[in-house]
Amino acid sequence: MSKKLLKQLTGPYILTEKNPEISLSIVIPTLEEAQNIAILLERLLILLDKKLPNDYEIIVVDDDSQDQTWQKVLDFEKERDNIKVIRREKEKGLATAVMRGWQISRGKYLAVMDGDLQHPLEPLLEMLDLIEKNDLVVATRCAKGGGYDNLCFKRKTISKVARIIGSFVLPKIVKRVSDPMSGYFMLKRSVIENIEMKPIGYKILLEVIARGRIKKITEVGYRFDVRVGGKSKINNKQYLQYVWHLLKLQVASWPILRLKKWIAVGLTGFAVDMFAFFILLTFFDFHVAISAFLSAEIAIINNFFWNDRWTFGDLAKKTPGLYRKGMRFWKFNLICLSGLLLHTLILSWMVQSQGLDPYFAKVLTIIIVSIWNIILNFRYSWDVPSQQEEINQKD
Ligand code: GDD
Ligand code: MN
Repeated sequence: MSKKLLKQLTGPYILTEKNPEISLSIVIPTLEEAQNIAILLERLLILLDKKLPNDYEIIVVDDDSQDQTWQKVLDFEKERDNIKVIRREKEKGLATAVMRGWQISRGKYLAVMDGDLQHPLEPLLEMLDLIEKNDLVVATRCAKGGGYDNLCFKRKTISKVARIIGSFVLPKIVKRVSDPMSGYFMLKRSVIENIEMKPIGYKILLEVIARGRIKKITEVGYRFDVRVGGKSKINNKQYLQYVWHLLKLQVASWPILRLKKWIAVGLTGFAVDMFAFFILLTFFDFHVAISAFLSAEIAIINNFFWNDRWTFGDLAKKTPGLYRKGMRFWKFNLICLSGLLLHTLILSWMVQSQGLDPYFAKVLTIIIVSIWNIILNFRYSWDVPSQQEEINQKD
């Protein structure tokens, strides 16, 4: 059998579960790499025919390059059927290309590397040795043995700034690796099987770490070589896409269902508060301030009851016992009361010293205090795991 052009995939980016037929599938995304691809393939064959004879495949995903990179691959060692090509005429982009390649792959381990010879080959062997005991192995420029001295000052700086922004927006994900920008890594197929990926821009690694089932990550250092033929396709649009991607992944990590339940409970709290306030004021003849304080406390108790039962019921079950329930209650109470105090302080500051319209100030204050309440209670009262941690805990 000889090489042939594979069908372009459409639809969601999901790797459906299947039994791997070979050990390794390497995906190489290309755009205008006619000058480099044949040299790279040749080197890969020499390396892998020795290391994994008949047990690997190379999948080039080309975005219909003007310089006919895809044709170069077809012409290269025509009888080899473990080299495959997808020529994408509609879909574009580096991250989606990598996903499409993995989707048609048959390997137990999936890898990605650049097609421009900037990634040296040795790390591939190291990654192969390490992947068995890990879920993801990243070739990094920032660890021992790694470097990017050859990169120009601008690219180096951008790379570092990008990492800083990333650690700020998505610390739990970005800080798991030293080089979150890396486009050279290997993972177990099972890491992303049956999970819908939403690749954007250049950074497929972020997507894999954010959505995949990854417990163990290790790294190998490598030196990023100078590009000899062709040119880099990275541009300002990709930097913007990177920031957009970070924000999307941050939102994806929110426990949305819990937030909805939390808001519903908050609404019952509001009703309880109003009702109790009315009763205390009219039937018990309490002072307004005392009625307000007592009714707020009654609402807090109401909210705790429903949140502990419903919003975080699953988490509460994992930490049973009256003592721990009591601890959750006190934390919740303290955070809500501090929120109340904050509410008064912020509101009077906004209206009295800043001269803001009282109704506008009230809305702003409610938003600020709600965020305060949510962040602190999710974190300290119930210790809510992120979406990601929930995925990892299930397996
Ligand atoms: N199919 C496809 N579609 N391939 C693409 C596209 C695209 O839109 N854009 C780039 N590629 C291919 C290139 O042909 C090359 O094989 C590889 O993706 C990397 O692209 P370069 O344009 O050479 O990227 P770079 O050298 O600037 O960036 C490299 O280093 C970064 C770290 O600084 C890549 O490895 C990045 O992934 C990495 O983040
Ligand atoms: Mn490059």
